[in-house]
Amino acid sequence: MIRLTGLTKHYGSFVAVDGLDLHVPKGELFGFLGPNGAGKTTTLRMIAGILKPTAGRVEIGGVDLAVDPIAAKAKLGFIPDRPFIYEKLTGGEFLRFVAGLYDQHGAQVEHRARELLALFDLEEWRDELVESYSHGMRQKLIIASAFVHRPDVIVVDEPHVGLDPKAIKILRDLFREYAARGHTIMMSTHTLATAESLCDRIGIIVNGRMHALGTMEELRNSATYGGSGLEEVFLRLTGENAARNLMDVLDA
Ligand SMILES: Nc1ncnc2c1ncn2[C@@H]1O[C@H](COP(=O)(O)OP(=O)(O)OP(=O)(O)O)[C@@H](O)[C@H]1O
Ligand SMILES: [Mg+2]
Repeated sequence: MIRLTGLTKHYGSFVAVDGLDLHVPKGELFGFLGPNGAGKTTTLRMIAGILKPTAGRVEIGGVDLAVDPIAAKAKLGFIPDRPFIYEKLTGGEFLRFVAGLYDQHGAQVEHRARELLALFDLEEWRDELVESYSHGMRQKLIIASAFVHRPDVIVVDEPHVGLDPKAIKILRDLFREYAARGHTIMMSTHTLATAESLCDRIGIIVNGRMHALGTMEELRNSATYGGSGLEEVFLRLTGENAARNLMDVLDA
């Protein structure tokens, strides 16, 4: 459903994403992990069509994003890490606005918007301006907006940041249920416990390259970086002794 072929992004001479090949099949919930600056946001923004690749290809549901961006983007909902919401809209208006971008209007959109707001405990805030929302409430509204037009594919960049435990639980159930119904989700996160319990497969990107890819079982059993859990695998791939090494330097 999401296919990346040799996907590459240069910022000047710096290579942020380096020839990424990946296939996320329909119905999969894919966890995209990696240390700060590894290239996750850059990759997700290229998939969402808001950042142009230096080289390589993005296909969404078999449609090449560069060839037919409108058809490809119609299949996609994107939840950015630093979303912009126009403050002078109400929550209800914002969801209506997003659905409108996908040419969806009317009773069905209103119904979905109501249900999504209720799911995230925002129904009483439906007619309040976004400027009066807390950080977590905005985050929940942005997440709701990705579901309001029922896209085949949802691409989401660190959805857990700022959410309370109840909202995280709701989000987890929503993602699981959405994938179980044949939709595809690619999610970046630093919350390893959530990734471990939630995702069908996990990819770990370091310096713009995929260093590990597989089910939790496959990652744990890897001969090169395997370990008892995702944290151990992640730290093996990304260098686990940085703080101790620094202390050795400071103490010397
Ligand atoms: N507009 C830009 N201009 C120059 N360099 C950039 C730009 N955007 C990102 N980078 C660089 O590209 C690399 C990858 O950044 P990216 O935001 O994709 O990382 P990330 O994996 O999402 O990290 P984090 O976990 O911190 O969100 C970083 O080294 C970053 O400094
Ligand atoms: Mg990022």
